[in-house]
Amino acid sequence: MTASTPLRPSDALVSGGQHPGFGRIKSGDVDLSHGVALYLEGISVSFDGFKALNALSLSLDVGELRCVIGPNGAGKTTMMDVITGKTRPDEGQAFFGQTADLLKLREPEIARLGIGRKFQKPTVFEDLSVFENLELALKADKRARGSLRWRLSGAQRDRIDALLAQVRLTDERLRQAGTLSHGQKQWIEIGMLLAQDPMVLLLDEPVAGMTDGETARTAELLLELEGKHSIMVVEHDMDFIASIARRVTVLHEGSVLAEGRLAEIQADERVIEVYLGR
Ligand SMILES: Nc1ncnc2c1ncn2[C@@H]1O[C@H](COP(=O)(O)OP(=O)(O)O)[C@@H](O)[C@H]1O
Ligand SMILES: [Mg+2]
Repeated sequence: MTASTPLRPSDALVSGGQHPGFGRIKSGDVDLSHGVALYLEGISVSFDGFKALNALSLSLDVGELRCVIGPNGAGKTTMMDVITGKTRPDEGQAFFGQTADLLKLREPEIARLGIGRKFQKPTVFEDLSVFENLELALKADKRARGSLRWRLSGAQRDRIDALLAQVRLTDERLRQAGTLSHGQKQWIEIGMLLAQDPMVLLLDEPVAGMTDGETARTAELLLELEGKHSIMVVEHDMDFIASIARRVTVLHEGSVLAEGRLAEIQADERVIEVYLGR
């Protein structure tokens, strides 16, 4: 199974990392000029002798939207822990772009360089409004900090308004975050991530607990973000996966079992055996 052929027109557009929408490609700290956003090679992580990751190798192109599936315990979350510096592997290499060695950087440095992560459980400030949640996230952005006084600038307000529209929460902007649905809280958190304008977005089970309508709108959102960010989405919801799938990676027992188009994955006997079933 090969993943090198363009899957849809948009994939061809981003395959060389030249997507015009990829605003931060010129960042000085991270070299994305070769079109590779993340590169993992031979990564192993053991917990008390149990290999959560076992010589995992995987790479994510600049601007790519990648789906990662696989049974519980396959190592999907652990992979994100390694990429974000939360867990150190016993072996292997992990690079962000050509030169940023993720295994030598600490968690906050990796976040600052441009890898944003959304955990399974939303962690919004429940007592604050939706707008205020995004305002806080924007203020955490080091590039904006110098210009911040007590009041937001017009440009910052516009940015928050744009983020609200992007995550479908314009009508909810003044509501207390704690009163929103689980799915809407997930969107707040995605908005807070986007406020940092990360080059890479890692999303762990973003539609778990969402209604069908919320799931469909999240799929639309991710398709809008494709090309502007390099995105890795872990999900079990196969209808959701089918609605956004380009290249799909199947993880099993800590390494890549299969990778390719969804149709190829779904026809793969080994994938059917361990994950999709008959
Ligand atoms: N901190 C930890 N300590 C011990 N075992 C862990 C830890 N984190 C994950 N594991 C184990 O590693 C395996 C992979 O877990 P995980 O990456 O969460 O899988 P997935 O996200 O694919 O369901 C599981 O068997 C899990 O129990
Ligand atoms: Mg997990």
